[in-house]
Parts: sequence; C-alpha cells; structure tokens
Amino acid sequence: MADTFTLTNNNTGETVDLQLHEGTTGPSAIEISTLYKEKGLLAYDPGFVSTASCQSAITYIDGEAGILRYRGYPIEQLAANSNFLEVAHLLINGELPTTSELIKFEEIISHHTMIKESMRNFFHGFHYNAHPMSIMIGVVGSLSSFYHDSLDIHDPRHREISAHRLIAKMPTIAAACYKHSVSEPIMYPQNNLDYCGNFLHMMFSTPCEPYIPNKTAIDAMNLLFILHADHEQNASTSTVRLAGSSGANPFACIASGIASLWGPAHGGANEAVLTMLEEIGDVSNIDKYIAKAKDKNDPFRLMGFGHRVYRNFDPRATIIRKMCHQVLSNLADNNNPMFELAMKLEEVALNDEYFIERKLYPNVDYYSGIIYRALNIPTNMFTVMFAIARTVGWVAHWSEMIADPMQRIGRPRQLYVGATERDYVSIDKRK
Ligand code: SDX
Repeated sequence: MADTFTLTNNNTGETVDLQLHEGTTGPSAIEISTLYKEKGLLAYDPGFVSTASCQSAITYIDGEAGILRYRGYPIEQLAANSNFLEVAHLLINGELPTTSELIKFEEIISHHTMIKESMRNFFHGFHYNAHPMSIMIGVVGSLSSFYHDSLDIHDPRHREISAHRLIAKMPTIAAACYKHSVSEPIMYPQNNLDYCGNFLHMMFSTPCEPYIPNKTAIDAMNLLFILHADHEQNASTSTVRLAGSSGANPFACIASGIASLWGPAHGGANEAVLTMLEEIGDVSNIDKYIAKAKDKNDPFRLMGFGHRVYRNFDPRATIIRKMCHQVLSNLADNNNPMFELAMKLEEVALNDEYFIERKLYPNVDYYSGIIYRALNIPTNMFTVMFAIARTVGWVAHWSEMIADPMQRIGRPRQLYVGATERDYVSIDKRK
C-alpha cells in the first residue's frame, strides 16, 4: 500500500487518508484530488506556496540549498560548459545531444528563424513607442494564423515543429520589435550565424554596412539565455500549462506566458531593477530607499530581491554577478556607476535585519539588466530577452503536459466569501 497521510478534523474526530507521492528528489506530495469528492472539502493555498500543480521531469529547484538542475545537470556545470541551443535540446528532449544531434538541431532552428513576409507588416501597426512586450504578445499569438499545418497538439511531430518554430522565431520577432522602435529596417536572419550572434545581427546591423557580432556579447548572451531558460512551475510557465490544458494551440499558450512574464514581480523585474537603480541614482540615497522598501505603507520594493522558492541565494544571481564583472571590464568602462551602485545596494541590503529575517537575496533579475545595458540592449527590451530564453522552458513544459496521459483541463476551485443568496431589487426600490 503506498504511503498515506491521515488528516483529522479535531472537532469531529473524522479522518481521511490521503495518498503520499514520492518524487525522485525533493519534497513528497499529498494527493488531495479526492478530498472534495469524499469530504466536500477544498485545500486552500493562495499563491500556491505549498501546492504541486503537476509532476515534471524537466527542472529541479531546492530553495534552501540554492540548487537548480535542468534534467539533472547542475546549472553551474551547464553555465560553464554548454551553450543555449544545447541546453534547449536538453530541456526539450531530456538528454544532452550528441555531436550529430546538436548539428541537426542547430540547423533546424536556424532554418526556422525567418518569419512570414506578411508578418513583417504587423510591426508597423504599432505606435513607435509601444512597449516591446505588448508587441511580442500580439505577434507571437498571431503565429497560429500562419501554421495550420502543425496545430494538432496530440501529434508529437506537430508539437515538435511548433516548438522549433517558436524557439527559432522569438529572436527574429524580438529584434523586429526593437527595429520598429528605432525606425530602422527589420533585418533578416543570417543562417551562417549562431543563435545569439544572429540575434545581435538582427538587433544592431543595418543594410548600410557589414556588422560582426562581438564575441564577448555572444558569450554573455549565451550564458544569460542558459540561466533564464527554465525554472519549474514559475508564474509564466504555470500560465502556459493552464492555457495549454484547455487544448489551446502552442502559439497562443506561449503568448499567454509572455503576458504573465511581463509583470514586475516576475520577468518584468529586470527592467524594474534598472529603473530603480536610476531612481536611486547614487550610493548616498541607498539608506533612503532601503527604508522605503521596509515601509509597509510604501509600495516600493527592492526590485531584483526576494524569491518565492530560493530562501538563501539564487544560484543564477551568483553566476550572473561574476559574469557582470567580466562583461563590464571587456565591454564597458570598468567603473560602471550602475554596477557599483548595484553592488553597494546589495551589500547594504544583505546586512539589514529586515532582509536577513525575510531571506531576501538578489535573484536572477538583479544583475542581468546591467549586463544587457552593457550590451546596448535598451531597458524596455530586458524582459523580451527573458522571454526569448524562457520560451524553451515554456515549450518543454507545454509538450510534457500534453504528452502526459493523465493530463486534464486545469480548473481550480475557490473559498467563496461573497454575498449569500438574496433576491433581485427593482431599481426604483434601491437606496
Ligand atoms: C523571477 O518563480 C520563479 O521561479 C520566478 C523566476 C523565474 O526564473 O521564473 O525566478 C524569475 O520572477 C524572479 C523574481 C523577480 N521579482 C522581483 O525581483 C520583484 C521583487 N520581489 C518581490 O516582489 C517578491 O520577493 C517576489 C514576488 C519575488 C516573491 O514574492 P513572495 O514569495 O510572495 O514573497 P512575499 O511577497 O510574501 O514577501 C515576503 C515578505 C513580505 O514582508 P512581510 O509581509 O513578511 O513583512 O518579504 C517582503 C514582503 O513585503 N518582501 C520584500 C521584497 N520581496 C519580499 N520587501 C522588500 N523588497 C522586496 N523585493
């Protein structure tokens, strides 16, 4: 008999046995799916702090130990040895590719980077100052209007080609958002360039002169994309899963993930960190802003700090912080005031009782924006960068969910706290 967990109602002595599920690593889970049918009770967990929404074999996080593994491989090893497309293959297929598999995968992605010619017109319908994330939501969602040949989500081949198209076209669409904002021609991808080099080409080259992507920038982008590729059931990935559970097509699901990622409490934080650092302006203002972050009556929060799962440190922040030094020394003037300010702010916060007590440490978004800034990526494109990378995680989770024979539409319940039954009152009798 599988292990069970017994719940007891202390008022009535009534008990219910719930099945305990063991994973390969990490916390066990109590199955409550029969609780309502058997006992008319619901589990209550706003924000899903203690809720496992699914089983998954893709990414493992241990928040206490600061562990992050993609398909069992520690993020530190992938950051040191891999590149983004190899990690994409790992996350989607479950294994690191052989040399021939990687060459084939890179070729497939490379040959899906172009967008349909008519799609290039979509960007001109947006105002020049539209936030690029608003354009991404619209244009990525509209991909489903071009690919009727691959919308049968129960066909593994359709799922695979949709995943390839999404991974391949995100940089092209992202760069087109930027080009539209600066009224420059939207550049075509170059199949002879690697994934990150091609993105930099589409962002910064013009038809007027040759452009050679900078090697340091390519390496930095590969690393940032690896670190942002997946993160188990975060808000945007859970959004993609819930949208996908209704049978919506993959392009619509990824558009919903982009929408969720945009929030400043999630992927929008990297843009918010730079805005915050610019607002703080100088180390002499740090104490004032630390006080604001601690003041319950002040909505200000220290952007780039805190995490629902990591309660000691975000391993990605540790890796990014180190890389920040290298990029700034290679690409920008060494005493980058923004970086100095970020380091000083981190030092002050990490020695403040409020942050220590609440285990608030820099997260993945705290330093990434500083590096993107050094790569001349504009601030309003930072979350777009996050979306390019996280598309790999989103499509991996979407495919895993659709392929799961236990999969059913996600439909949470609620604790109702509204008005009890009452009769309609005609308008002439209302006060
Ligand atoms: C990402 O889920 C993922 O994995 C996300 C992500 C991924 O890869 O997908 O890792 C990417 O989204 C990273 C997080 C980026 N967001 C930010 O940097 C925004 C600032 N951080 C906060 O908004 C907050 O820390 C969250 C949203 C990240 C976590 O929110 P929780 O877990 O709901 O924590 P909470 O709001 O309940 O805070 C607990 C306490 C509260 O104080 P008390 O009520 O206990 O007195 O900590 C305080 C909060 O007020 N707090 C902060 C704070 N974060 C939490 N106080 C000041 N500054 C902050 N940043």
